[in-house]
Amino acid sequence: MSSPKFSLVMFGGTGDLAMRKLLPALYQSYIDDGFQSTSRVICAARTVYTSEQYREWMNESVKKHVSERLDDVKWSGFLQRIEYHPLNATDANCYVDLKNILDQNDNERVYYLATSPSIFEPICQGLASQGLNKNSRIVVEKPLGHDLASCQEINDVIGSCFEENQIYRIDHYLGKESVQNLMALRFGNSFFEPIWRRERIDNVQITISEELGVEKRAEFYDETGALRDMVQNHLLQLLCIVAMDPPASMDADAVRDAKLAVLRSLKPMSETEVLNNVVRGQYNTGTVLGKDVPAYTGEEGVKNGSVTETYVALKAEINNWRFAGVPFYLRTGKRMPKRMAEIVVQFKPVAYELLGKMPQGSNRLVIQLQPEESMRMYCLAKRPGNTMRLGPVHLDMDSDDFFTERRMDGYERLLLDAIHGNLSLFVRRDEQEAAWRWVEPIMNTWRDQNVTPKLYTAGTWGPPAANALVARDGFNWHEEL
Ligand code: BG6
Repeated sequence: MSSPKFSLVMFGGTGDLAMRKLLPALYQSYIDDGFQSTSRVICAARTVYTSEQYREWMNESVKKHVSERLDDVKWSGFLQRIEYHPLNATDANCYVDLKNILDQNDNERVYYLATSPSIFEPICQGLASQGLNKNSRIVVEKPLGHDLASCQEINDVIGSCFEENQIYRIDHYLGKESVQNLMALRFGNSFFEPIWRRERIDNVQITISEELGVEKRAEFYDETGALRDMVQNHLLQLLCIVAMDPPASMDADAVRDAKLAVLRSLKPMSETEVLNNVVRGQYNTGTVLGKDVPAYTGEEGVKNGSVTETYVALKAEINNWRFAGVPFYLRTGKRMPKRMAEIVVQFKPVAYELLGKMPQGSNRLVIQLQPEESMRMYCLAKRPGNTMRLGPVHLDMDSDDFFTERRMDGYERLLLDAIHGNLSLFVRRDEQEAAWRWVEPIMNTWRDQNVTPKLYTAGTWGPPAANALVARDGFNWHEEL
């Protein structure tokens, strides 16, 4: 589907996100789509560049982040489609100029706020002061707040200038191909639905691990921590996709209603439950991929004696008829042995062990989001020979084996969706606030009970307490069988 005529204004055009993710993603969609002749990409930031100088900056800083299909001719074609407009987002006069620029075309208007939320207010008000909020869309990035109240404040600011159906809150995990594929698998086939429930599922595990540390974001990260950075958004969104009921339709609001129902069914944790069911960790010195790395507190930009967590493992429960009593174990951490994101749905063992003792978790569906995207169903089969001995086999449902189409990166898909006006993969205000509501008791208990993080050696899977969390219920974290 080719994109409509659009004018995309990217605030924060010289920032890290624009450089590493947004511009490379736009390049990919430019190759496929060509962009209509009047479509415009207008990057804006404080630095005083001409468009030509900005393109030079892109050559130096952005090009290296293009991970596939880099072609010099196409890249220079793409560069010619990029304009740069220096702008101090807090200066109301800038929006008069912006209006003149945007009024040159009759395009769909999309504003991408790849900036700190601290300047969302002047940007929204500046746009509204010139009527630029009308017939347009606004895309905002996490973090939206550091707790429920600050999230509501930001949402109020945006909401005072834009209607909810103009607001595209990005969670880039929702743009990943495997997440979409999980929906296809669940709602496009008849045999999963009857087993997708408490009677057949033993537990669900969702892991997002990174080998990276805090890199150049130490200051931001030290104020944020893994719970706010990863659990409140990415992990809870993935949990919603696994646990939601089939939506009434694939309309944006129907999908988001189904996810919201899950968030509202999450069992709120009491202080004692937080202490028992949530593991807070922080990396110590160690070795990652053969390289010695410092402890979190030794990273440049991290406060002395910081108690910010770089790791969280927790057990969530969903109080609804489909999943009551099924533990959902979520974990995420930095400086772990490898970069990986996966969802594991572990099914119950057979009712009676007719063929002998079965290893735990013999029947499971593993959806890997990264580094590779794959879906694998594990089960047991007879080992050849004259005795009835079983061993693990698996069924791969890898789309690469069946389809030739290119996989899109999460940002590419979401940018295109924003341009096309498709809200399904964006987070609605009530979802986002429900997620904060569930996470807040964890933050409050940590604060009130002075819960300091347990140290784990960099390059390991987190503090031993995370293993104990699942072992207590008779399970263990999934490892390749
Ligand atoms: C971001 C977090 O939202 O997601 C980062 O702020 C994290 O801390 C990143 O590194 C992980 O995303 P991905 O797609 O690389 O797994």
